[in-house]
Amino acid sequence: MALLNAKVGLVVGIANERSYAWHIAHGLIAQGARCAFAHLPGEKNERRTRRAVDELGVADPVLVPMDAGKDEDIDAAFDRYAQSFDRLDFLVHSIAYADRDWLAIGKFAQTPRQAYLAAIDISAYTLLGMARRARDLMARSGGGSIMAMSYYGAQKVVPGYNVMGVAKAALECTARYLAAELGGLKIRVNIISGGYLRTLASSAVGGVDKMEELALTKAPLRRGVEGKDVGGAAVWLASDLSAGVTGETIYVDCGINTIGV
Ligand SMILES: NC(=O)c1ccc[n+]([C@@H]2O[C@H](COP(=O)([O-])OP(=O)(O)OC[C@H]3O[C@@H](n4cnc5c(N)ncnc54)[C@H](O)[C@@H]3O)[C@@H](O)[C@H]2O)c1
Repeated sequence: MALLNAKVGLVVGIANERSYAWHIAHGLIAQGARCAFAHLPGEKNERRTRRAVDELGVADPVLVPMDAGKDEDIDAAFDRYAQSFDRLDFLVHSIAYADRDWLAIGKFAQTPRQAYLAAIDISAYTLLGMARRARDLMARSGGGSIMAMSYYGAQKVVPGYNVMGVAKAALECTARYLAAELGGLKIRVNIISGGYLRTLASSAVGGVDKMEELALTKAPLRRGVEGKDVGGAAVWLASDLSAGVTGETIYVDCGINTIGV
């Protein structure tokens, strides 16, 4: 029997077929889950996301526009979701933003206030904003699983990751505080810390070639992470198999985070 039969949820962050969110949705759907999808507003963004969702083989997909930087958009997206589905079993947060001008190696100390705050707003605060809207729907569903994507640059300095590392540290900590507050409603909140994957977002980070090379030579598994590796972890987190797991950061990076030198 499929692990996620009867589970329904919202996947935020599919820009194209390379997005981590796409691989996560692929894994969830393969295990019987039904998904709605949130994308950045605008015709071009909708078209891009729709094309990627078509590749997932979802008939008549529910697509909702949401600029997660706007509270009213988050409200509207969850309202739209609730018009189509009467339960919310999982929420996938797979979005991040930082001005690429400040993601160059050696540029961290020059990051302007506005760029710093924008990175934390979109990449970290939005998890709280979405969790708040998800809370009632999940509670009515008997609980739920919220997951968000992070990277090792939250824990250690990765040259070029810069302000995004600060935002990811805030994201990981936000997940722990949310987990503590929402656990009484059987809502679990976890982070998947994924390895480097070539995507639109990761192409903005300086020094990514080095990250790719390090994965091949230093990672215990001697390979880079694949989307399906993270998809598999997401299936486990959305399923009842992980019912006792919350507030955790789970590394899916072929082990590279365990290597010191
Ligand atoms: N690719 C990697 O190497 C890697 C590694 C670890 C973690 N991550 C994380 O995975 C997540 C997904 O990134 P990805 O690599 O799949 O890249 P991606 O570019 O495919 O996805 C990023 C998504 O963020 C969305 N987004 C940006 N600003 C938004 C806003 N204001 N409102 C709503 N959506 C917004 C974009 O539309 C896009 O869908 C991010 O949190 C990223 O930091 C990526």
